Amino acid sequence: MATTTETSAASPYDRIGGLATLRQITDRFYDLMETEPAFKTLRAMHAPDLGPMRESLPLFLAGWSGGPRTWWEANPGKCMVSMHSPFGIDATTAGQWADAMRQAISDVAPSDTAIAGALADVLDRMARGMAKA
Ligand code: HEM
Repeated sequence: MATTTETSAASPYDRIGGLATLRQITDRFYDLMETEPAFKTLRAMHAPDLGPMRESLPLFLAGWSGGPRTWWEANPGKCMVSMHSPFGIDATTAGQWADAMRQAISDVAPSDTAIAGALADVLDRMARGMAKA
């Protein structure tokens, strides 16, 4: 008879390196957004001060990947996808987000390359899925 094994597998959050690595990735992401002309349109959509985003995005990603749910506790009932609908995200800006995040993950180079690739792929799909056109 097949047995079910209670997995003690590490969460994606643990495998990527926890909050420290997520902060490295998101800081690199916003650095790229601020400096690379390829992400200029995406940068222009954001507030002049990216400080709040540098705090918010790693906390969102932490809870979403199986770590501490700080972002959800601070934002009860907030739907991250629907809060983006007023921003008028199109294929260009969604693509810039996905490309900047993929580059940031690649630059930080987490040691678990399988989870790093999976993270880049799923965030790419999530970002492109937010595009209206
Ligand atoms: C598809 C392209 C995307 C664009 C153009 C975009 C744009 C924005 C903008 C303009 C803001 C408001 C912040 C500001 O004005 O500085 C924002 C907030 C935020 N975005 Fe995005 N976003 C995108 C995709 C994503 C994705 C895929 C995620 C998550 C994986 C995400 C997570 C967040 C979070 C957590 C916030 C802050 C919400 C809060 O804590 O109040 N965004 N985004």
